[in-house]
Amino acid sequence: MNIIIRPEMETDHRGVEELTRAAFWNLYTPGCDEHYLVHVMRTHPDFIRSLDLVAEIDGKLAGNIMYTRSFLRSADGEQRETVTFGPVSVHPDHQRKGIGSALIRHTVALVQQQHIPAIIIYGNPSNYVSLGFVGAKRFNISTPDGSYPSAMLVLPLREELLTGRQWTFHESSVFSFDKQEAEAFDAGFPPMVRQHAPSQELFSILSRSTVQ
Ligand SMILES: CC(C)(COP(=O)(O)OP(=O)(O)OC[C@H]1O[C@@H](n2cnc3c(N)ncnc32)[C@H](O)[C@@H]1OP(=O)(O)O)[C@@H](O)C(=O)NCCC(=O)NCCS
Repeated sequence: MNIIIRPEMETDHRGVEELTRAAFWNLYTPGCDEHYLVHVMRTHPDFIRSLDLVAEIDGKLAGNIMYTRSFLRSADGEQRETVTFGPVSVHPDHQRKGIGSALIRHTVALVQQQHIPAIIIYGNPSNYVSLGFVGAKRFNISTPDGSYPSAMLVLPLREELLTGRQWTFHESSVFSFDKQEAEAFDAGFPPMVRQHAPSQELFSILSRSTVQ
């Protein structure tokens, strides 16, 4: 298997949206919105173009990762710029072969060069703990309403800039997209059946659980 990781180009846009749709369809909800998120993210002010990468296998798109700017704020007025990846997608034909990890490792190395203190994401811990992510509560990082979701994960890159304070995490407004617009966008893709799957219940449990 010959994997190439390279920047996403304009000619990849539709292919990346299709692979994102294939990766997320019926996984967390009936259908999915992540291909719409990818579409609107590229023109959002928080989008980080230099961290928008694709993985190609034998010349065909197999995976993608995108990042946006996010930040931490402390009660005493300190602010730290952080970055957040997602969606990260690997086409179902190529999952569990190390491509997602390769995209994450590659971009983590790029983020490290920028002296960013942490990468903070919402995701299933089982996908990310082997890459060094830990629960955000370890660094006293909560949501703006003070909770500690089990899915909020941190990859500390400069721990000294995180310790000793209580933080709230603020992600990009790109994630607050209009669901109806997402559905209208999906209508431009080949029809696929929206259905229930056990993975959706797992997601529902995980996305409502918090660390005490
Ligand atoms: C999640 C995803 C990006 C991982 O990419 P991948 O190439 O399939 O994963 P890798 O082969 O690099 O494996 C990464 C780690 O995640 C684990 N993993 C991957 N898929 C998993 C799954 N469905 N359930 C549990 N663990 C999983 C692997 O075991 C591996 O851990 P390890 O290094 O301890 O063995 C990919 O499976 C995907 O696109 N899934 C659908 C969309 C999605 O869920 N995106 C992430 C949103 S949180």
